[in-house]
Order: sequence, then structure tokens, then C-alpha cells
Amino acid sequence: MNDKARLTTPHGETELPIHEGTMGPAAIGIDRLYRELHYLTYDPGFVSTAACKSAITFIDGEQGVLLYRGYPIEQLAEQSSFLEVAYLLLYGELPTQSQLDEFSDIITHHTMLNENLRDFFRGFYHDAHPMAIMVGVVGSLSAFYHDSLDIHDPRHREIAAHRLIAKMPTIAAASYKHSIGEPFIYPDNSLSYTGNLLKMMFAVPSEPYEVDPVAERALDLIFILHADHEQNASTSTVRVAGSSGANPFACIASGIAALWGPAHGGANEAVLTMLEEIGTPERIPEFIARAKDRKDPFRLMGFGHRVYKNYDPRARIIRKMCHEVLDKLGDANDPLFELALKLEEIALADEYFIERKLYPNVDFYSGIIYRALKIPTKLFTVMFAIARTVGWVAQWMEMIQDPEQRISRPRQLYVGPVQRDYVPIEIRKASEVSS
Ligand code: ACO
Repeated sequence: MNDKARLTTPHGETELPIHEGTMGPAAIGIDRLYRELHYLTYDPGFVSTAACKSAITFIDGEQGVLLYRGYPIEQLAEQSSFLEVAYLLLYGELPTQSQLDEFSDIITHHTMLNENLRDFFRGFYHDAHPMAIMVGVVGSLSAFYHDSLDIHDPRHREIAAHRLIAKMPTIAAASYKHSIGEPFIYPDNSLSYTGNLLKMMFAVPSEPYEVDPVAERALDLIFILHADHEQNASTSTVRVAGSSGANPFACIASGIAALWGPAHGGANEAVLTMLEEIGTPERIPEFIARAKDRKDPFRLMGFGHRVYKNYDPRARIIRKMCHEVLDKLGDANDPLFELALKLEEIALADEYFIERKLYPNVDFYSGIIYRALKIPTKLFTVMFAIARTVGWVAQWMEMIQDPEQRISRPRQLYVGPVQRDYVPIEIRKASEVSS
């Protein structure tokens, strides 16, 4: 940190430090600005704000680059597994074989839920959205694991991380089973992380269940792609919640809530709904026109990204994977996939999307694969939550250990009424109430 930025304001001048990272844009340090010049910075949506230092994930949105701990997402997708990536994100380095075996064993042996916790599901109405159940049940984990709630104890943090990663598929599958009225299936320790999830979602106690290796690998790959994405809305939510000292289960529940929205993780579900609504290629221009119309709130779901102003590298991998998975599962001519490809082609040739650098994001194609794997649409965002739990937990752990960490407490630019006197209700006029 050598360079300085000079800021001239009507209240005076100051020199601000410039912080250099290892890659990516430098950041101007503004933490002393208010104290020195009595100014705040105004940045709705945090478009130009680095809220923390992080060594976990790097994105170059202009070039379409995504690195986990320095490793390109393409190499991890090709050569790694979800649990290996989980280890990498949590501990900072790729594991040796024995470290990976031990980690996989720990995760496998933490998948069961407390039986009392399983009763929570029965309290939800049968048509509850599985994400609603996830928010509630994951938050309730803090009521069960008092032995891992001391956030200042590194071992407690690690146990909580393992529990969250291990139990998320069990909670997700139970929320689905509840919604269709089928009995819960217990975890099977002989299976892989995604094989076990598939079994818990699709097996019934009365019949044997064989995990389809194509589905198992496809899910593992999608989970790698969704595992972390630096300071997105849900991760920032986890960090903000955690900055107050809240326990990790409560923090992850807040992340699930933030993920649910259609502008974030809910987009994968929204893409499928949109494709079904479009129905045929002939109707694409009508929907493109709606997406471009400022007066119409409709947006092309699965398109655009705050950081990527180029093709999302994860979307490129998933698009290729769609071809492979659909071929292998015998759904090569899935009309929705054909429709998605056509929609992408038309949008990418349209001046509106070119000018604004709007490309397909990770969720444009992920729903097509989930559909091919027979995962119901309502579970798409739940799948995302399972994978992203790894990133949330890694970022939460990093935050707790950051010596610069303070409670997140943004300020505001106040635009409300200036100070005024209370008017007794007997003499209050309507204009005074609404003004
Ligand atoms: N369809 C049509 N127009 C769009 C779209 C879209 N999907 N996305 C952005 N635009 C337009 C905006 O209207 C705006 O136009 P303007 O300059 O004429 O006002 C311009 O592109 C810039 O968009 P912003 O909304 O300012 O971009 P922001 O960074 O705030 O939003 C977001 C990013 C939320 C992802 C947005 O692109 C969007 O809503 N996309 C659809 C939902 C989606 O796919 N979300 C998943 C994101 S990936 C993830 O969370 C895993």
C-alpha cells in the first residue's frame, strides 16, 4: 500500500490510502473519511464497495474468470469433486488423499439429524415451499448443537462447519419428502455426498434404490460450480449476520433467506418457469421485447450479472454439460433445452443485451439439468443452497478470524422530514399526517 488517492471536497482535502490485493482492482480506503471530513460515501447495492478482504474466491467479471483459492473453475470442474472443493474452500489448500478421506469420512458421519429435529418438518403445511422449510429448520439447528456455538473457539467453528455441510442434504431431502407426503429416508453412509442426496430424495422404503452414476456426477459438478462466488447477496448476508457474533446456524439460515430471491439463487427456478411460459421459439421475440421494455418489470431470468460483463464461466461449463447429461439420460431433444439455446442466440444478437453486456449466468442452464435429473422445480434453489453452504461457511470462518472485522453497520443518506413538533391528534389535519 504505497499510492494514495487525493479527495477534494467543499469541506477540505484528504489523502486516502489505496489498498492493493493480489489480483483485481485496488480499493480506496475510506474508513477515516467521516472522521476527517464528515462525509459518507453513497453506493446503493455496493457496486463499488469492497466490504472485506478475502482470500477465498476471485472473479474477473470483464474476462469471465472464476478462481477458488487461485484454482480456475474449469480445472476444478474437470478434475475435482465437490468434497475436495469444499476442503479447498474451507482450509485454503487442496487436500492430500488421506486428508480428503478423513474429511469425507467426517462429513459422511454427520449427516443424520436429531430425531426431534425431524419432527419440525411435520409442523409445516404440506404445500410449504422447501426453501421456507430450509430457512426455518437450518436456523433451528442452533437449538440442538450448544456444544459448537462458541464462535471464538476454532474447534467449535470447525465442528459447526462440518455439521452444516453434512446435514444440509438431509434437511433438503426431508423438506422435499414432506412436501410430497412420503416417509423420510435416512442417510446411507456407503454413498457419496450427491449419491446420498439422490437416494434421500428419490428412494422409498418399500423398494431398492440404485444411484444413477450420471446423475450423481452431474450433481457433484453443479455443486462445484455453485460452491462459492465471493461477496454475493447471500454471502454478504451471512457475513453481516455473523459480524454481530450470531451463531453459524443462524447466519447460514439468513444466507438461505437471501438466496431465495429471484434476482439471486431463485433465478434457476424462475428460468424454468419462464421457459415453460414462453413455450415455443415463435414466442421468444415477444418475451425479448418485454425484457427490454422499461415499463414492464419482466426480466430475462438467468441473464445478466452484477460482476460478469462477459459470459459467466460457470454457464459455459453447464451449457456443455447439458448436452452431455441430456444425451446420456436420453433427453437429448428436450424442447426446453432447445428453447433455451434459441433464446440465448436471439438475446446475444440483440443490441439491448450487447450494449448492457448481458450474458447467460450460471442459472440459465442449471434448471435444465435439474429437470433432466427429475429434480422438481421447487427444489432447484434448495440444490443451490446445499452447494453454497460450503462458501457461506468458509466466508464466515474467514470473517471471524479477520483482525479488521467489526460489526457491519452501514450508514445512510437521510432524505426524510427534518425535525418537527408533535401535533396532538385532536388538531391534526390530514395534510399534516401525510406530509
Ligand atoms: N433482462 C433484461 N434487462 C436486464 C436484465 C435482464 N435479465 N438484467 C439487467 N438488465 C438491464 C437493466 O434493466 C439495466 O438496464 P438500464 O441500464 O437500461 O437501466 C442494465 O441491464 C443493468 O442492470 P442492473 O439491474 O443495473 O444490474 P444489477 O447488477 O443491479 O443486477 C442482476 C444484476 C440482479 C443479476 C440482473 O441482471 C437480473 O435481475 N437478472 C435476472 C435474474 C437472474 O438471472 N439472477 C441470477 C444472478 S446469478 C446468481 O445469483 C447465481
